[in-house]
Parts: sequence; structure tokens; C-alpha cells
Amino acid sequence: MTIVSPSLLSADFLHLDRDIDMINQSEAEWLHLDVMDGVFVPNISFGFPVLEAVASRCRKALDVHYMVVHPEQYISRTAKLGAMMMNVHYEACTHLHRTIQAIHDAGMKAGVTLNPSTPVSTLEDIIEDVDMVLLMSVNPGFGGQKFIENTISKVSRLKTMIAESGSKALIEVDGGVQAETAPRLVKAGVDVLVSGSYVFKSSDPMAIIKGLREL
Ligand code: DX5
Ligand code: ZN
Repeated sequence: MTIVSPSLLSADFLHLDRDIDMINQSEAEWLHLDVMDGVFVPNISFGFPVLEAVASRCRKALDVHYMVVHPEQYISRTAKLGAMMMNVHYEACTHLHRTIQAIHDAGMKAGVTLNPSTPVSTLEDIIEDVDMVLLMSVNPGFGGQKFIENTISKVSRLKTMIAESGSKALIEVDGGVQAETAPRLVKAGVDVLVSGSYVFKSSDPMAIIKGLREL
């Protein structure tokens, strides 16, 4: 069974209540929330007023992905939302170890996210401290982009690093996850699939979620 974390970025923002209720009824375990600041990535998505509204209605575990500079500024507000996982980008954190500790101290699980061009070897000295590694399989900022093929071998390399270190970190992949890429990712060792457009642009999102979960 694969954990599915549908990305709300591709939901219908005029009908978020309906789309969150669909997620609540689905077999998805998590809901993936993409926060963008227009500085770390060339796009702006949503911030705390929307996150708070979503948190009040969603019954699934919140998997928050910060594509922002200085994500450490938002740790306590994210904990207040009741988020389960806070993902910060390696490229946005000068003092990643301190940020990971602060996320744990706030009562959340800590994920570290890598852009497509950042090698997994850079995590060698932090892998035992993180609960999850989120590999971007597109350049972050937008939904509906094409999957970067190198991610498959990156997952395998990360899997080996995790096994050798004794870390219990999960592997999550985000970007271009659909019918063709998802089975190959799971085979390579992915634990959590994020999927935005493949789920929300489908005529039967709950069936798509079920299909991903059963991979
Ligand atoms: C992109 C976001 C993703 C996005 C994925 O920067 O981090 O979570 O919603 O969208 P799809 O699944 O459409 O590639
Ligand atoms: Zn994301």
C-alpha cells in the first residue's frame, strides 16, 4: 500500500469545500498543501488564511510543502494548524539541522525537500534526523509539469542511503505523478506519492486515488 497525498494546488479554488470533502471520503491518507512565496519559486499559491480554512474541514493528515525562503519563520503557525508534516527545502535552509529540530520541538514530523538538481548525497549528515525526504520530480512552482526521468534513479540512490544509515525516513515524490510514472516510482522504493493534476483533473478522482494507493 502506498500513501497518497493529493496536492490541493490542482483543486477547484471556487469549490474547495467540495474538493476537501472528496479527499475526506477517499482512500488518501494525507493532503498535500503547497505554499509558494514568489521568491523561492516563480509563483504564489496560498497562505495561512486558506491553510486555516482547509485545516478546519480536512480530516486527513496535513502534509505541508513550503516553497518559501525562511520557512523557519512559519513553524509555530504550521503547528497551530495541526499539521502532521512540515516539509522545508534544503535549498532554502542555511541552518537545516536547527530548522529540523525546531519542527520536531513544535510537535510535527520534519521533511526535507530536494530540487531536481540537488543530489541526495547532500543529505548524508541529516538523514537520521528527518522523518521524510521529498524529492521534487519537476522544478517546483507549478502543477501539471512533465516528470523528470532522473528521479527514478535518484529514488534508488536515496533508498540505499536510508538503508545504510539506519534512518527510518520515508521517501515522497512530487511532480508529474500519473498512471505511467507512479508504478515505476513505487517499484524504485517510493513510500508516498503526491499527485495534483492527475487526481483533480480526472472525472473520477476517488478512483484515481484508490488506484495509486493499491500500487
Ligand atoms: C509543484 C508542487 C506540486 C504540484 C504537483 O511545485 O509542489 O505539489 O501540485 O502537481 P502535479 O501532480 O500536477 O505535477
Ligand atoms: Zn508539493
